[in-house]
Amino acid sequence: FPPTTMQLSAPTLFTNAIRRRSQASHKGTYGEVVVLGGGDGMTGAVLLAARAALLAGAGKTFAAFVGTVPSHDALHPELMCRSAATVDYGTSVIVAGPGLGQSDPARGHLLQALNTDRPLVLDADALNLIAAEPDLKARVARHPAPVILTPHPLEAARLMGSTAGTVQADRLHAAMTLARDCNAIVVLKGSGTIIARPDGQLAINPTGNPALASGGTGDVLAGLCGALLAQGWPAWEAATGAVWLHGHAADVLVKNGHGPVGLTASELLLQVRRELNRLV
Ligand code: APR
Ligand code: MG
Repeated sequence: FPPTTMQLSAPTLFTNAIRRRSQASHKGTYGEVVVLGGGDGMTGAVLLAARAALLAGAGKTFAAFVGTVPSHDALHPELMCRSAATVDYGTSVIVAGPGLGQSDPARGHLLQALNTDRPLVLDADALNLIAAEPDLKARVARHPAPVILTPHPLEAARLMGSTAGTVQADRLHAAMTLARDCNAIVVLKGSGTIIARPDGQLAINPTGNPALASGGTGDVLAGLCGALLAQGWPAWEAATGAVWLHGHAADVLVKNGHGPVGLTASELLLQVRRELNRLV
């Protein structure tokens, strides 16, 4: 069984990654996030992930669309909407997958992201595309910068050539196997999210509740991971911190009567901002 399994009891695991903002800092200090997704009909997913990155403190956030590019995000004109074909990954953290789709262009843009030397958060259809091609999975394992994978159980099963039932029957084993195979940090989502590292280190998250069982909350988690990476958090701290904060924000919202019924991902990302600011 696993060499070490830790319970993420308090945010102690990642508090040393949190830096108070220095007075002389500027947006360049807090990094850049590009969220790659936004196939036609799936604009919401990329916007939710990008808004989460914005509200979690990334210095600059871009939303890159594989499909039709909206002129701007009406709720957050701070977000820069770009075509995936013209986006420059430069020095960004890349969050790929929310609403990406699995079209040929989507695959091409994902490949371009995998060919950079930038830190990656891979979610949703980025994971599904990788699961369909052993060569892409091998590229992930060779990636020169940190990679965080955020599968739900079915996405994890596709990556492992297994079934969601098998993954759920031994979640620790599944997360650890996937982390080794992909040489990446794996966030196996669902009640009691597991975070696994290629060296076998595992963490179990105690925060979160069924209010999170609604479309878009996974996109928020992916954007949050990206923002923490962009602000210089080490990858393990970014992954565990994002998972803990995401669940904790949902717990606070439920305590205050905003769930468990009807909590939205948009409300969640506002609460994530509040909880993150309580820690800095
Ligand atoms: N307890 C705690 N956390 C939960 C619970 C629960 N009962 N249910 C869900 N969550 C959390 C998960 O841990 C995860 O962080 O909510 C989030 C759900 O993420 P996803 O399953 O990715 O859901 P979603 O945001 O709707 O994904 C959007 O992308 O992955 C695809 O097929 C998916 O079309 C969907 C889209
Ligand atoms: Mg999802």
